[in-house]
Amino acid sequence: MEKEIKEETHDEYFSYITALQQEIKDQNYKYHIMTYGCQMNEHDSEKIAWICEESGYYPTENPEDADLVLLNTCSIRHSAEDKVYGKLGELKNLKRKKHDFKLAVCGCMMQRKESRQFVLDKFPHVDIIFGTNNIYKLPELLLKNLKTNDKEMDIIHSYENTDNSLVAKRIYHYKAFVNIMYGCNNFCTYCVVPYTRGRENSRKLEDIVQEVKNLVANGVVEITLLGQNVNSYGKNLNPRVTFTDLLREINKIEGLERIRFMTSHPKDISEELIYAFRDLDKLCNFLHLPVQAGSNDVLNKMNRKYTREDYLKKIKRVKEINPNIALSTDLMVGFPGETEENFQDTLDLVKEVEYDNSFTFLYSKREGTIAARSENQVEDDVKHERFERLLKVLYPIQRKKNEAFIGRVVNVLAEQVSKNNDQVISGRTEEFKLVNFPGTKEDIGKIIPIKIRDANSFVLTGDKYHEKS
Ligand code: 5AD
Ligand code: SF4
Repeated sequence: MEKEIKEETHDEYFSYITALQQEIKDQNYKYHIMTYGCQMNEHDSEKIAWICEESGYYPTENPEDADLVLLNTCSIRHSAEDKVYGKLGELKNLKRKKHDFKLAVCGCMMQRKESRQFVLDKFPHVDIIFGTNNIYKLPELLLKNLKTNDKEMDIIHSYENTDNSLVAKRIYHYKAFVNIMYGCNNFCTYCVVPYTRGRENSRKLEDIVQEVKNLVANGVVEITLLGQNVNSYGKNLNPRVTFTDLLREINKIEGLERIRFMTSHPKDISEELIYAFRDLDKLCNFLHLPVQAGSNDVLNKMNRKYTREDYLKKIKRVKEINPNIALSTDLMVGFPGETEENFQDTLDLVKEVEYDNSFTFLYSKREGTIAARSENQVEDDVKHERFERLLKVLYPIQRKKNEAFIGRVVNVLAEQVSKNNDQVISGRTEEFKLVNFPGTKEDIGKIIPIKIRDANSFVLTGDKYHEKS
């Protein structure tokens, strides 16, 4: 059964926000959040930002100006954790300089005993620690710490009180993330997520639809539905609903233009969902389907629960029903025991599928997972060499896919002014292709037809298209 924040917890949450407002009023305190990792974390940071602002903190882009810095951490790979440790070391200086400076650490790393203990042992200047399942505790912990200066820590491992009803500060006025479920039951043998974010738990369909309606009423045109394994959506709900049921309901919402979602697991992508791409006009023509590896031997050791053949069959079906769909994937090289032959299978699969986009990772050993216990760890130099070879196959395919857009007119949701040139706007097509075009900041948030004139492996370039021109 899904559980919202219990009523009394919810009241308590608001009473702490009110008390915090009183405690810090007239101080002009500022907060700064550093977010590591995936969209799930990005969205959690939006909820944290809302709490901070509701409590009376002002945002600042510069951590040096902040009175409260929060690190929302990721533990998917070792490198993500190392970045956080490096940052915590740097922040020691700020703590020394400002006597009322507060440092909070949250996110997936804090759900892992080893990482949490390391932070407690090595970084005594951290004031507040909380986890992914109890973001609503932040006002209470912050208030207590401001009053006593004692370190405050609260971690929960269950979803008894998920943060379903927390409001988020919407960073963009035109697009938004919406959680549809939390956690993962898959236990891929390399992955910490089931340990950090716990078991699958879906939000009620009505709550999600209502949240999307509210967003749309406030000007949002694109939503991304978030879950570690969206195909499992609804399994714990009564009456049972499927992910496609949810998509159908959301597709009906007037004023909404685009629906995206992240992430599907290949083992349970259904025919129903494959047809949804064809039948639901708002569902973007883009599917991210992480394959991880192309060898059955490796997939089996990863506990992915599909074979190379199963995966390719699903891709074939997706392309049959939706010939123009753009495909993207996650790939991992150097999983324990991966042989040269296994790696060749990955290269062959990538050539066969022809992905539009990909996220590639070096396998990272995570303590507590099954794969970390394997004695067949692949040497670092072999991993790096395979990684480079993989990119050499992926990038020309991406380029070819992007070049196929030259001459076409595509609808682009204008998202931001380019970092390098303020006359250039970047946005995304339905297929999640990045497009740069000459424009102004007034374009941001609008869906604009763009005629593509150039492309490389990563970005398309074009111009606004006026039908008569
Ligand atoms: N090492 C490297 N990459 C990993 N991922 C998950 N766990 C690990 C790990 N231990 C990758 C997978 C997943 C993506 C979100 O991160 O490819 O799909
Ligand atoms: Fe991790 Fe596998 Fe769950 Fe994805 S499906 S979050 S890789 S355990």
